[in-house]
Formats: sequence, C-alpha cells, structure tokens
Amino acid sequence: MTKKKEIVMSGIRPTGFLHLGNYFGAIRNYVKMQEDFDCYFMVADLHSLTTHPDTKQLRANVHRVLAENIACGLDPDKVALYCQSHVYETSELYLYLNMLAYTGELEKTVTFKDKVRQNPDNINAGLLTYPVLMSADILLHRAKYVPVGKDQEQHLEIARTYVNRFNHRYGKVFPEPYAFNYNQELVKVPSLDGTGKMSKSENQMATLYLADEDDMIRKKVMKTKTDGGPTEINSSKPEYIENIFGLMKLVSSEEVILKFEADYNNCTIRYGDMKKLLAEDMVTFISPIRSKINAILDDKQYLKNVMEKGAAKAGISAKETMKLVRETMGLDY
Ligand code: TYM
Repeated sequence: MTKKKEIVMSGIRPTGFLHLGNYFGAIRNYVKMQEDFDCYFMVADLHSLTTHPDTKQLRANVHRVLAENIACGLDPDKVALYCQSHVYETSELYLYLNMLAYTGELEKTVTFKDKVRQNPDNINAGLLTYPVLMSADILLHRAKYVPVGKDQEQHLEIARTYVNRFNHRYGKVFPEPYAFNYNQELVKVPSLDGTGKMSKSENQMATLYLADEDDMIRKKVMKTKTDGGPTEINSSKPEYIENIFGLMKLVSSEEVILKFEADYNNCTIRYGDMKKLLAEDMVTFISPIRSKINAILDDKQYLKNVMEKGAAKAGISAKETMKLVRETMGLDY
C-alpha cells in the first residue's frame, strides 16, 4: 500500500509583480515540495480585496501570479494550483472560524497594525480578520506544512490557536499547521535600500521583480547603499552591507562569496566590483524566468484551464473537510 502524502498549502496575494522575496521565501519551497507532498497552492484574490478594493486590475494580476508561479517551476499537473475565490468552501470555514477569533487578539497582529498605519482610511473588518481567512485557507485542506517567508510566522501561530480552539470545543478535525522552509530558518529577503523587506507594492526601486528587464536589474543593484569599506581587520558588517552579502548568497557561487568575505575581512573589498558581479548573477537568475512568464501570459486559455483544474482538485479536499466540520460542529441536521 502506498503511504498517504502529507499535506501542504500556501498562497500569494495578486497585488503586484512577484519578486525575489516571494521566490526565496515561498515559491522555491513550493517547487521542491511538489515532488513529495500533496500540495495546494493558490492565488489569494479574496485577501487582496482587504487592501485593494478596486478590481479593475485583478484579472491581469491573478493571471500574472499564476504565470509567475508556473515559470518558476510549479507544475499544475502535480499540484492543485487554484484561485481562492473559486473554492467557495473557504468562505464558509472563514465564517465558522470567525466565532473562534477574538478581536482583541486580532488587533495586536503585526500585519494589521502595519496596514492601519499605511492606510488609515480603509480599516475594514476584512483587514482585521485577515488571519482568520488565511487560517481557513490552510485548514480547508487540513494542511500540516505551510511554506512561507518570515513575515507570515505570526499568522501561522494564530492558525494553530484556532485549530486548538476548534478541536477542543467541537472535536478533533484539524492538525496544527507549521510554517516551513527546507533550509530550516524562515527567509526574509531585505529590500535593496537596506530598510525592511522586498515587497510587491512598496518602494519598487528597492525590489527586484521576476519580471524586471536586465538593465533594470543592473540599475537597481548598482544603486544599493555602500560606504568607504571597513578600516579594521575582521570588523562586523553594517546591516546594509550584510544585506548585499545576503543577496549574493541567494544567487552567486560559494567561491565568489568566500572571496568577497575574505576581501571584507582584510579591508580590500571593492564594493563596485562586488555589485557588478551580483548584478550579473541576478540577471542570470531572473532573465530565464522572465522569458517564461511572458510566454505563459500570452496563453490565456491555458491559464483558464489551469485554474479550472486546480479549483476542481482543491474542491474535492475542501468538500471532504467541510462535511467533517459540519458533522463535528453538529450542523448536520
Ligand atoms: P504575500 O502575497 O505577501 O507573499 C507571498 C509569499 O512570499 C513571502 N514573502 C517573502 N519572503 C521572504 N522575504 C520577503 N521579502 C518576502 N516578501 C514576501 C511571504 O512570506 C509569502 O509566503 N498572507 C499571505 C497570502 C496567503 C497565504 C494563505 C499564505 C493567503 N492565504 C495561506 C499561506 C497560507 C501573503 O500576504 O503573502
């Protein structure tokens, strides 16, 4: 008898072009996990409505996120690749979980506080209950592993709280889900200006997008902040220099990194040379992905088929879970 595969779930909001943070925080793991796990990956269009109520761009953005995932190596025949709003059971589970979610806890969520600061004119209830909807996405498939970047860690903690409340109040249905990264520590890809993380919509010149043209990549990398270099042997690195080394570790060879580490430690480092090399390694990494994205985006019928097939696969698992949820809650009159 073949062993049942463990379940994996994750999602990405269609709020802009995907970037290196999305790749190294999430998609790289998706591509590896699709070989060994039962995977559900989706475009979180309902989540995007919490901050982007205008839907004019949504179709194009949903297509783009799908194409970008596939261009990075995700195979729609191996995983369920779907759009969140196509699986209606998500909204039903979201409703039930809302009764287990205390507003006081949600108000303390870091992402909620950030969004309130960024957009004080649109503090809607959907924004407050964002982690509840995210928990519904995960629990709908009773997933155990959730490949995400470091910024999503608190949301996973919240999901585990709801699992425990549900299982305790009604009966055991859900396993506890955990954030997952193959390299153990969760990833945070820093922005190129040394402040915060790369992001889809903020500070575009400090973010490397998978769709960036070669010259744009070079321009962005060459603009990163450096200084006159260390003056004392083996001194510690300021954060903005640490970040450049961090980016290099994502795309450059071990040999190159060791060379620049040694140059830094003996105070002979030339940041101009380092950035030129980093820029070329970034171009080598990003440009084949960019070409694939553009080719996939041209085939709208293919993308429609992917979404339909994905929703059908995800629907089977969602329906099974919701039947069990209704029975366990005593709603099966
Ligand atoms: P989103 O769309 O902001 O980001 C998608 C994925 O990319 C990761 N990520 C990063 N990782 C490292 N460094 C960065 N600079 C960086 N920026 C983004 C995120 O951690 C995420 O894994 N709430 C989620 C979407 C979502 C979801 C879910 C995720 C909805 N439902 C269910 C997992 C499970 C979000 O906003 O991701």
